[in-house]
Amino acid sequence: MKPKILITRKLPEKVIRYAKQYFQVEMWNSETKPIPRNILLEKVENKDGLLCLLTDNIDDEIFKCALNLKVIANLAVGFDNIEVNLAKKHNVIVTNTPGILTETTADLSFGLLIATARRMFEANTYIRENKWKTWSPFQLTGMDIYKANMGIIGMGRIARAFVKRAKGFNMNIKYFNRSRKLDVEEEDNISFSSFDEILETSDFICIFIPYSKDVHHLISATELKKMKKTSILINTARGGLIDEQALYNALLNGEISGAGLDVFEQEPISSDNPLLCLPNVVALPHIGSASEQTRLKMAYQSLDNLHSVLYNNNPINEVN
Ligand code: DGY
Repeated sequence: MKPKILITRKLPEKVIRYAKQYFQVEMWNSETKPIPRNILLEKVENKDGLLCLLTDNIDDEIFKCALNLKVIANLAVGFDNIEVNLAKKHNVIVTNTPGILTETTADLSFGLLIATARRMFEANTYIRENKWKTWSPFQLTGMDIYKANMGIIGMGRIARAFVKRAKGFNMNIKYFNRSRKLDVEEEDNISFSSFDEILETSDFICIFIPYSKDVHHLISATELKKMKKTSILINTARGGLIDEQALYNALLNGEISGAGLDVFEQEPISSDNPLLCLPNVVALPHIGSASEQTRLKMAYQSLDNLHSVLYNNNPINEVN
């Protein structure tokens, strides 16, 4: 008998064909709507494996009813949607998809930085609203990126890939991380700074750390006040790392000059969120890893993660 798995969102046909070679598959058949909580609870009950997304909250209630569950494969590198300590208590292995989305997410992060610094979305809207009447020397001027001071918070895989892109722009790169990465400092010729120094001296601040309760609102009003008035904040990690109300106030009052956000405290962000009224905010709907190739690789890797536990009892990409 093949092990039973639940997939909480519709995945492409070829991915499901692959899954069916190894598993009895049940799938929530919508691409755009998350599986309702009551259906998740009902369907997971008799499953050996669960392939879920960052929109699924995997907590004690799930573990208490999923008595056969042996493995959860999160289709993401971040896993703050899963109570991993509880998973351990219930002997459920949790896996993620590290590595394969690194370059794609670094591309998006750097693209977001350029778009924010050079006001590309504002400029695009300007044309579409028929406001472009003539070329003017100080129309839609932005910030230089070349040789600017780049402050990076966190130095994991994605941050490191981002550094490579920043080096192409001859940026002066400093980073802060819980522990120093001497090998990276030497290989990439970047320097370690205190958190405060990053805030006070950077033209661009980019956040690349995983979210947990310990780093909730890492950037709040106090941190924003320390930043340069001309600085730009980029977040492609998790929304909870920034206090959005404080960010709104700082942008409105000119305490910093712009923000590029791919992630939000509440997702999806509502269209009447005040941040969306600010021209100096570039907002994207959590698309850091969203290239066709990478999302496919993430789906296959999640299935391989389930396979590694349910067939070989030898988990790959285990996080707990
Ligand atoms: C992740 O993997 O954690 C991203 O946020 C989605 O790709």
